Order: sequence, then C-alpha cells, then structure tokens
Amino acid sequence: MLNVDQGTQDADRADLTDWMAQDLITDSVANFVEGPGLKRLGLRFDINELQEALTQVMARTELVGDIAAGFGVIPLTRRPGTDGASDNDLSGLYWLRADDRYVEEEKEEVVDEAAFSEFIPDYADTYFAHVHEELTKRVPIGRMRISSKGLYNCNSWHRDPEPRIHVPIISNPGSLFVVNHYVTHMPADGSVYFADTRGYHMAMNGGLAHRVHIVAAIPA
Ligand SMILES: [Fe+2]
Repeated sequence: MLNVDQGTQDADRADLTDWMAQDLITDSVANFVEGPGLKRLGLRFDINELQEALTQVMARTELVGDIAAGFGVIPLTRRPGTDGASDNDLSGLYWLRADDRYVEEEKEEVVDEAAFSEFIPDYADTYFAHVHEELTKRVPIGRMRISSKGLYNCNSWHRDPEPRIHVPIISNPGSLFVVNHYVTHMPADGSVYFADTRGYHMAMNGGLAHRVHIVAAIPA
C-alpha cells in the first residue's frame, strides 16, 4: 500500500473543491477571442462576396482534393509562368515532433513565398482578387490559397517558417485554431485574422460541416 503524504491529499482535496466550484460554461467559445499568436485585423470583407467568389472559383478550377468534402486546396497565387499547383507549391518546409521521442524534425523543402507574387489570372474577376489587393496593401503576401477542412478533421501539430493571414469563408463553432497554448474560433463574418504559425499550431474542425478559409502566407 502506498504511503500517501497527508499534506498532498489535503492540498488536492482543497484544489478539487475549488475547481468544482468554478463555472466554465460560456458562450464566448463561439466567438473570436484574441490571444497570443491569434489577432484580428481592422480590415473586413463582405462575407456574401467571399462565399460567391468561392462558388465561382470552384466552378472553374481543377480541384486539388475535394473542397466541398472538406479536404483540398485551391491556389490563388502562383509563381509567374507556373500553374501554382505542383506538390511542393502546396506544402513546404515545416517542423514537427512526430512521436514519443519528442524530437523536432524538419519536413519537406523550403518554399520561396515571395516568389508567389502573381494572383492567378483566371480568378481576376472574382472578389478574391480584391482580397489579395487589400492584403498586399498591408503586408507582402506569398502563397494564398483556399483551404478546406472536413468534419472531425485536424492537421499535424507543427510550426512553419512564416505567419499566415486567415479569412474564413465557411465555418462553424467547432472549427478551432490552436497556436502554442492558445485556442479560439474564427467566425466567417468577413473578419481577417493573423495567425502566427511560426509557433506550434493546428487547425481542427469538430463541427458537422466542412470549413473553408483563405490562407495567405506572409513571407518570412
Ligand atoms: Fe501550418
């Protein structure tokens, strides 16, 4: 039988009593709450226009994956003279700790974000061209893509060389973004968010519908 220290028992009992007296029920989880690594810009877009542009782009592109089913990517910028959809154009260098060794490892190849300077001409008549123009007035923009995430889906827990701008187009309250120790929801209401993906991060969708964001890299 374990010889449990009486002081530890008393301290744990007091802590548990204290924690159980706290009420954590809150509606704020359905909102954006700014925190370390997750900020909201003053810039706002028209959510109806964003959703209309998504419909237009999906109607005229060869999908990479399946946006509607919740996995897939549509590039919106490219290196001049390319189609912007090679494998490397869709991933790029990142670091993760993949297993119980807890060792950080480097994956894939460096992507020169600054080279993705051209908005894809096929979409020049859509609202996404306006989004690209407004973003580039504020900060250099590299790869800009439409990225979807299916229900009960998350990506790897990793860090990237550069931060990202997120513009949610379709979302739900179960769609969350984590940066280091901080997590919040980003509503699809035209808001524009800064996600410092140089920190460890992960997007997850615990809702019952897919979510779609514009994700734009800020060259490091
Ligand atoms: Fe990332």
